[in-house]
Amino acid sequence: MELTPVKVGLLGMGTVGGGTVTVLSRNASEIARRAGRGIQVVQAAVRDLSRARGSDSEGIALTSDPFAVVDNPEVDVVVELIGGYDLARELVLKAIANGKHVVTANKALIAVHGNEIFAAAQKRGVTVAFEAAVAGGIPIIKAVREGLAANRIEWLAGIINGTGNFILTEMRDNGSDFADVLAEAQRLGYAEADPTFDVEGIDAAHKLTILASIAFGVPLQFDKVYTEGITQISRDDVHYAEQFGYRIKHLGIARRTEQGIELRVHPTLIPERRLIANVDGVMNAVLVKGDAVGPTLYYGAGAGAEPTASAVVADLVDVARTLTTDPENRVPHLAFQPDTLSDLPILPMASVETAYYLRMSAADRPGVLADVTRILGERNISIEAMLQKEPAAGESNVPIIMLTQRVLERQMNEALERIEALPAVSGSVMRIRLESLSSD
Ligand code: HSE
Repeated sequence: MELTPVKVGLLGMGTVGGGTVTVLSRNASEIARRAGRGIQVVQAAVRDLSRARGSDSEGIALTSDPFAVVDNPEVDVVVELIGGYDLARELVLKAIANGKHVVTANKALIAVHGNEIFAAAQKRGVTVAFEAAVAGGIPIIKAVREGLAANRIEWLAGIINGTGNFILTEMRDNGSDFADVLAEAQRLGYAEADPTFDVEGIDAAHKLTILASIAFGVPLQFDKVYTEGITQISRDDVHYAEQFGYRIKHLGIARRTEQGIELRVHPTLIPERRLIANVDGVMNAVLVKGDAVGPTLYYGAGAGAEPTASAVVADLVDVARTLTTDPENRVPHLAFQPDTLSDLPILPMASVETAYYLRMSAADRPGVLADVTRILGERNISIEAMLQKEPAAGESNVPIIMLTQRVLERQMNEALERIEALPAVSGSVMRIRLESLSSD
C-alpha cells in the first residue's frame, strides 16, 4: 500500500530553509525510496512575505506567522530554522504539545533548552531530531549516537565552527587580517547572525555541549563549558607554532576522566601531522576516540545551504521511518535511555590537565630565562621545547616561546602569575593549550 507523503512545515526560509526545499525537490524520488513515502513541504513561515522565492517554493503556502505552522493540523513535522533561544523554544514546545515531530538545526536551542525539550517530547511520544545542529552536513550525531553505540567514548575533539577555522586558515596561509576574513565569512553566509558567537567560541560551545551529552550520556550543560575565543591569536603565534611543527585550531574538546568530564573550547596547538590539523577553511571535522574502535575522524562542510539541508533532510527521512514505531523503541534523543543519564561532574578548567605553548616578551639580559624556568620547575612544569628570537631592531625585549609538558591548569595559572610579576617580563604571557590528540 502506498503511504501518503509526510507533511512538513518550515519555520524559516533563509539559507538552510531554501536549501532544504531545493534538496527535497531535486532528490524527491530517491528520498521517497529511502523513506518509504514522499516528504512534502506544505507550509513555511517567512519573515518577509514580499520577497521573491525560487521556483522550488511553488506549492508551499507562505505565512508570516510561525504559530500558524505549528498549529496547522495538516503538518506532521515542524522544521525549525529560525535560530535563537526564546521564540524557537516556544514554537518547538508548542509543536511538541500539538503532537508534531520536530527537526531543528538550532544548536543554541538544543544546548540551552534541550533537556526541557527532550523531556516534553518523550512525554508526548514525538521525536526531536537535531543532526543539522552540529557540524552542518557531517552526520556526526548519527555516528556517535548509533554508529559508535558499542563503545565507551573516551574523548572527542572537533573543529566545529567553520568561520573560526576559515579565519585561522587565512591568517596562516595569507597573513590576512582578522577583520577582513570575518567579513568574507559573513558574506559567504557561514557566520552566525552575531559573529561574536563564532569568534568567541559560543557557537562551538553549543555544539560541544550536544556532542558531549551523546558521547557520555550526561545531561546538556552548556553553562559549564569553558569557552575561549580566537581573537587574541596573533600571526606571530600561528608562525611560531609552525616552527615547532604545530598548527593552531579552535577546538571543542570533551574528555572523560576519573574525576569528571572536561568540556572546553579554546585555541589549541595540535601536531601538524594529524589529519585534523589539515582541515582548512570553512570545513569541519570531529575526531572521536572510542575504546573499541580507536580514533575515528569525520570530515565535511559544517555550514552552508545544501550541506546543512543534507542533515535536515536525513532527519526528515528518519522521522518518516519512525512514524510507525512505538516511541519507546526509537533511538533515545541523547543516545542513552533518559532514565540512565549520568551525573558525572563537569570539571572546572583549573582541574584540567594539558600541555601549553607560552609566549612572553622579556628583557634580553642574563638570568631572565633562569628565573622563568625556576618558576616553572618549582611547580614541576617540564619544558619540552624552547625558542628565543633576536630582538627586533631598536627593541631591548625578546620574544621567548616555550612548549611545556602536561600539567594541571591550576599549577600553570600560579606559574604564569609569578612569571608576569618578574620585572624583566613585560605584559602578560600568551598561553595556548596544546594537545597531542594521540590515539592512546
Ligand atoms: N556559524 C557556524 C559556523 C554555522 O561558522 O560553523 C554552522 O553552525
